[in-house]
Amino acid sequence: MKIRAENILDYPTIAKVNTLAFRGKKEAKLVEFIRSSNAYISELSLVAEIEDHVVGYIMFSYVDLVTAQEQLPVLSLAPMAVHPQFQHQGIGKALLKTGLELADNRGEALVVVLGYPKLYHPFGFQAAINYQIECPFNVPEDFFMVKPLSGYEDKYQGKVIYPPEVHNV
Ligand SMILES: CC(C)(COP(=O)(O)OP(=O)(O)OC[C@H]1O[C@@H](n2cnc3c(N)ncnc32)[C@H](O)[C@@H]1OP(=O)(O)O)[C@@H](O)C(=O)NCCC(=O)NCCS
Repeated sequence: MKIRAENILDYPTIAKVNTLAFRGKKEAKLVEFIRSSNAYISELSLVAEIEDHVVGYIMFSYVDLVTAQEQLPVLSLAPMAVHPQFQHQGIGKALLKTGLELADNRGEALVVVLGYPKLYHPFGFQAAINYQIECPFNVPEDFFMVKPLSGYEDKYQGKVIYPPEVHNV
């Protein structure tokens, strides 16, 4: 398996993988929205490829963390998807590991994610509330998690603001 940054030729297959994994088109539309916005980070939008076929995808993009003093850019991890025929073979974990390493090497401060604690805890994510970061979604607080990266400082406390398009997913 190879992990690399996405390119324009991958877009249709990535949309298919997201649609199959999530059983609907909302996440594929979210990816299109993010690509067209200034939150997009091409080098942190990664595909997993097996024999030249894209079977997995992970996207990190910028959202704002609003603190008492300022607005700070942090990374939002969404979506992550593996083609149903290739799930539970370690591809999701490999995408996460590579993505987090690349983000750390860029000096990013923090990753926020809404997802399964069981999947993210082994990678160092903790409930956001432990870092005084407020969840903007109406979900159990364990499901909104953060992972500090190399650029993290204590000032990263406050509320994460997502674009309205994300709330509609
Ligand atoms: C979630 C997903 C990306 C994981 O990819 P994957 O390649 O199947 O995952 P891996 O084989 O690397 O396994 C990683 C861990 O994910 C967890 N996991 C995978 N699918 C899960 C699910 N549906 N519910 C809860 N945990 C799950 C397991 O804890 C697993 O760890 P383990 O093997 O030590 O038990 C993939 O299953 C998928 O596309 N699911 C549908 C889309 C989705 O829900 N994405 C959002 C994730 S928050």
